[in-house]
Amino acid sequence: MHKITIAIDGYSSTGKSTVAKELAKHMRYTYVDTGAMYRAVTYFAMTNNLIGDDHFDVVALVSKLNNVKISFKFNPIAGFAEVYLNGENIEKEIRTLEVSSYVSKVAAIPEVRYQLVKQQQQMGKDKGVVMDGRDIGTVVFPYAKLKIFMTASPEKRAKRRFDELIARGDNVTYKDVLKNVQERDYIDSHREDSPLRKAKDAIVIDNTGLTQEEQFKLILRLVERVFKS
Ligand code: DC
Repeated sequence: MHKITIAIDGYSSTGKSTVAKELAKHMRYTYVDTGAMYRAVTYFAMTNNLIGDDHFDVVALVSKLNNVKISFKFNPIAGFAEVYLNGENIEKEIRTLEVSSYVSKVAAIPEVRYQLVKQQQQMGKDKGVVMDGRDIGTVVFPYAKLKIFMTASPEKRAKRRFDELIARGDNVTYKDVLKNVQERDYIDSHREDSPLRKAKDAIVIDNTGLTQEEQFKLILRLVERVFKS
């Protein structure tokens, strides 16, 4: 069977990566978490003291972008590819609320986007890929055969993210997580370069009231429809 490209975009904490991973596994496709790449650049900026609550040295970050080598390596125990920065596994480090609070600012820099989009297009050039992010169906793979745009209420998304952070032992409040979700929604949809938008031909899934299983079945039906058409 020929391979296709599947683009999954949408708001933060809509469960895009969970469903994308499951789908990639089911179809034996490669899964690429593009948000992890923007988080890796943010982590690089944080550890090099280029970004903080009261400073952000965009010029220095852009000048150092050539030193940011991002790669993915499949972890058979986790069942998905983890993200590496200059050879170091940073999968856990990039999921903190601190990284989340800076990442939208980093993702708004055109030079950062240019570099990462180029890398994403390279990763997906042979198709057989499920890629999730904010601009996959609009910018990275505008000709993807299946485009899904995921959304859910901010409260539901914040609750999911809050539960995840608490489960891994982070000391956060629901109020702070909800504020972060809302701020990221705003910055991601209002930036000048590749703002978060639904591609014209994307199918919207609002999963506020759906279980993961219901959502997965729905997506499988969409995939079947593409192969039949
Ligand atoms: O999917 P995520 O929450 O891990 O993404 C982190 C941030 O990266 C998000 O706030 C927006 C940005 N992002 C982006 O601008 N474009 C992408 N393709 C993926 C993520």
